[in-house]
Amino acid sequence: MSMPCVPFKVFGTFARNPNHAMRFFIDTANLDQIREAQDLGVLDGVTTNPSLMAKEGIHGEARVKQHYIDICNITSGDVSAEVISTDFAGMVKEGEALAALHPQIVVKVPMIKDGIKAIKYFSDKGIRTNCTLVFSAGQALLAAKAGATYVSPFLGRLDDNSQDGMDLIAQIRLIYDNYFFETQILAASIRHTMHIVKCAEVGADVATCPLSAILGLLNHPLTDIGLAKFLADYASNK
Ligand code: G3P
Repeated sequence: MSMPCVPFKVFGTFARNPNHAMRFFIDTANLDQIREAQDLGVLDGVTTNPSLMAKEGIHGEARVKQHYIDICNITSGDVSAEVISTDFAGMVKEGEALAALHPQIVVKVPMIKDGIKAIKYFSDKGIRTNCTLVFSAGQALLAAKAGATYVSPFLGRLDDNSQDGMDLIAQIRLIYDNYFFETQILAASIRHTMHIVKCAEVGADVATCPLSAILGLLNHPLTDIGLAKFLADYASNK
């Protein structure tokens, strides 16, 4: 008799990989911000995209490649570098060149038909990938089937379109856990600290965040009031 597939669900929560904690990536190409997050001691990697590179004024193949290397020299974690081509051959050529830049590079590939073919190709060759621009569970399932290392559902952009992005993260978590897919959920398009906290609740493997959202986790007025009182009481005791 074949055993039924038993998902990980236990008492309303999920028993997930005990070997790794949630990771924080920073979603920027700004070297100062990457350094600041690194100095905080909580940075596990970096994601970039063509818009973030353009925002820093990084143009041209040589400068873009050097910038990826500069980022890899700040963090010891994974660094997502996105292909520009939209056809299979172009994505393979670009992705192989990006992967050859540095062992930390993860090739970021868009969720399109040729992108899925490219992810499968890279996966077979041992090149790590991040499937980007994911907005549905079906897309995430396809990316996992193709062997993506990471899948990037865009929370904020779904929220902007009156669809709860966090529901998608939870749905992908359930699907991946049902079948032990090893593709990691990299929650992207994070806009604020509550996105990070909610991602932790639903079990995203990674949250890639603006620096402001990471630093926002520090904030609570009662912490500031409490610290001021401790310091005042210490001073009055001298
Ligand atoms: O990593 C993808 C992410 O940068 C998209 O964020 O804020 O442009 O929706 P956003």
